[in-house]
Amino acid sequence: MGKILRINDKNNIPIWFMRQAGRYLPEYRRLREKKGSFLELCFDPETAAEVSLQPIKRFDLDFIILFSDILVIPYALGQDLQFIEGEGPILGDLMDLEKLEKLNFDKCLKKINPVFETLGILKQKKKSKTLIGFCGAPFTVMNYMIERGTSVSHKKILDFIRRHERKAERLIHILQEISVLYLRKQIKAGAEIIKVFDSWAGILSEKEYEKFVILPNKYINDEIKKSYPNIKTTFFPRQSGRKVLKFIEQVQCDILSVDEKYPKELKKEAKKRDIILQGNLSPEILLTGGSKMEKKIKEILFDFSKNKHIFNLSHGVLPKTPVHNINKTIDIIRNYEFNKSTS
Ligand code: CP3
Repeated sequence: MGKILRINDKNNIPIWFMRQAGRYLPEYRRLREKKGSFLELCFDPETAAEVSLQPIKRFDLDFIILFSDILVIPYALGQDLQFIEGEGPILGDLMDLEKLEKLNFDKCLKKINPVFETLGILKQKKKSKTLIGFCGAPFTVMNYMIERGTSVSHKKILDFIRRHERKAERLIHILQEISVLYLRKQIKAGAEIIKVFDSWAGILSEKEYEKFVILPNKYINDEIKKSYPNIKTTFFPRQSGRKVLKFIEQVQCDILSVDEKYPKELKKEAKKRDIILQGNLSPEILLTGGSKMEKKIKEILFDFSKNKHIFNLSHGVLPKTPVHNINKTIDIIRNYEFNKSTS
């Protein structure tokens, strides 16, 4: 499984970037123009595989992440989905819960069969790189299903879980079931690591977090480990703050993606549980570049030097990021001398 096996070799630290494929790359923008909408790209296996490989060809990163989106699950469940240029995702009406509960999820997943074909192509072409499959965590996917798109206030989703708690639990149940089937199919198609994105975990109170973040992520981890004990699982409960300590107590994952504000005990706890930490350069700093970026990258390498560490961002690459800042970042990491005690 490529570099992940050599994770203890500090002079060869594995690197990838969240949203490493996308609009900041000119070769991506050219393909987008030629091939049409973002979703058309996701559902065209040859093109989606090419897009997944673009950042690997350019930067020789260690991980290939499937090019798709977390919102293909609502789409598979029959919710209309469009990505509007400059606006983001727009979702249609949600089916009644009773109807959703009666769906045959295997059949629903056939609607997004191209995703598995993309993984099949990548498996053939990956060489020594490690292939990552992914899904959104139930709460984050439910957030988009209820908000019908991106939201700043998250009013609808918070109202939903506070006023219709039982319904929210039922929807979470549906999402965790289909997510497990979805990830199993991705693994069968060639994914070697899976990552579960809980981008909106941070908006919940402690009690809500236990119910809607910890329990569904734990369910997914346990189910995947039951069928595939050797598959590495990654979780990203973004902006959890101190709640992440409870998260790793219960979700026995292999890799934890961290954002910038993690509690100071996390490094020790991760070490105790043999969890690899993945992160955590801010996409804004990557966008700005310069000496501030250089200093921050070195600080991160130093901070995580006593942990198993995969270098990554704290969130996705921003569309206006200069390509040369990515080259520079990789250069700094590859040339960093770990035996120096300064950062
Ligand atoms: O990381 C990768 O390189 C793999 C591909 C990937 C995409 N989305 C491609 C994408 C992954 C792993 C995702 C996950 C995703 N999608 C998340 C979780 C991670 C996170 O960013 O918090 C979320 C919340 C989404 C939902 C989503 N998709 C939004 C809100 C948007 C619009 C905002 C934006 O960046 O445009 C998308 C669109 C999207 N997903 C694009 C890409 C490359 C841009 C589409 C385009 O080309 O116009």
